[in-house]
Amino acid sequence: MATGTLSPFDIAKVRADFPILREVVHGKPLVYLDSANTSQKPASVLQALDDYYRHANGNIHRATHLLSERATQAYEGARVKAARFINAADPKSIVLTTGTTDGINLVAQTYGRMTLRPGDDVLLSWLEHHSNIVPWQILCEQTGATLRVAPITDRGEIDVEAYHRLLSPRTKIVAIGHVSNALGTINPVREMTDAAHAVGAVVLVDGAQAVPHLVVDVQALDSDFYVFSSHKMFGPTGTGVLYGRRELLEAMPPYRGGGDMIASVTFEKTVYNVVPYKFEAGTPNIAGVVGLGAAIDYLSAIDRGAALAHEDEVLAYATARLREVPGTRIIGEAREKTGVLSFVLEGVHPHDVGTVLDREGVAVRTGQHCAQPVMDRYGITATVRASLAIYNTHADIDALIAALGRVREVFG
Ligand SMILES: Cc1ncc(COP(=O)(O)O)c(C=O)c1O
Repeated sequence: MATGTLSPFDIAKVRADFPILREVVHGKPLVYLDSANTSQKPASVLQALDDYYRHANGNIHRATHLLSERATQAYEGARVKAARFINAADPKSIVLTTGTTDGINLVAQTYGRMTLRPGDDVLLSWLEHHSNIVPWQILCEQTGATLRVAPITDRGEIDVEAYHRLLSPRTKIVAIGHVSNALGTINPVREMTDAAHAVGAVVLVDGAQAVPHLVVDVQALDSDFYVFSSHKMFGPTGTGVLYGRRELLEAMPPYRGGGDMIASVTFEKTVYNVVPYKFEAGTPNIAGVVGLGAAIDYLSAIDRGAALAHEDEVLAYATARLREVPGTRIIGEAREKTGVLSFVLEGVHPHDVGTVLDREGVAVRTGQHCAQPVMDRYGITATVRASLAIYNTHADIDALIAALGRVREVFG
């Protein structure tokens, strides 16, 4: 397959790993440019799900039979893999969640509820996904704390000077995205974390869009909490990870009550289980977590540096090609960005663009991308977003550009 890249990354092999990329849609070969929404899954992940249900399906932590033991080992094995994947010092600092949204709500309703008082601040950035806005708004309503927001520049970068000015001893929680889903901006999270720590705030990083692209090291980032979703990093839907510093997790009250999160229950008093099980009430998505483990194995087996170089090269190619299309305006031109190309086409609503692209076999997302404040910042209601993963190629971008030509034919 011609890729047009000189990267040592074996793109043909990677593409062969993802069976769905051979799909035909509307009579055209699928061109999948919507991985920031959800990524496709390699055969090894599909195989892990199938193997789990065929050979290991049982409930975890509670039965004495072999299948339960297999299920427990696979589930706890994925926790260990997740810890290694983000270089967490201790697998006990990994809470298995249903996704990024779940992880952020968990932290807001446990750490946030126990910490915030009227007069305190929660500081976000203007770039955040609704998942990293609304849980904090709810928390502020509940506690009387104030939500503050660091603005962004025209390029789509957080205005770091303004961020520094907004930090104060009142700031108790800072919640920032590592990579913006709407614009692809990579934020300087280590610098922002150091500044937050200097005023005594605790930092949650939303890594949903970072883990599929960047090698994440929570110790190097000095994160207090780091959250991400499995489905955006080639794993199944309905699972995710909350990393928390062990001492913070220990101090937090439980989030949901139910089975598995308890050590003992009487009507007089319930004693909660130890961390991280205290936060994992009820039967979890065991198969999904096993699939997450397989996705981590997949990512760990490839050369991540070469994969990122490949993606960056495709993004640069896409950006250059898009600039040649008359009437396009790229939204978000951060100096550090990855994986996302958001744009508008003069005179054509993004939803119409998306519909024509779909008929040409090109899957993109259109709309606000769960980031309405970002759209408001640029005075627009929506963009077309082409988002990349390790399996995209120049040929995909050429198909996008050709399909945009078709949009012009249809809409004039
Ligand atoms: C930056 C960011 N944060 C949070 C989320 C929410 O993730 P999930 O829907 O998997 O919980 C997304 C999903 O698009 C995202 O891109």
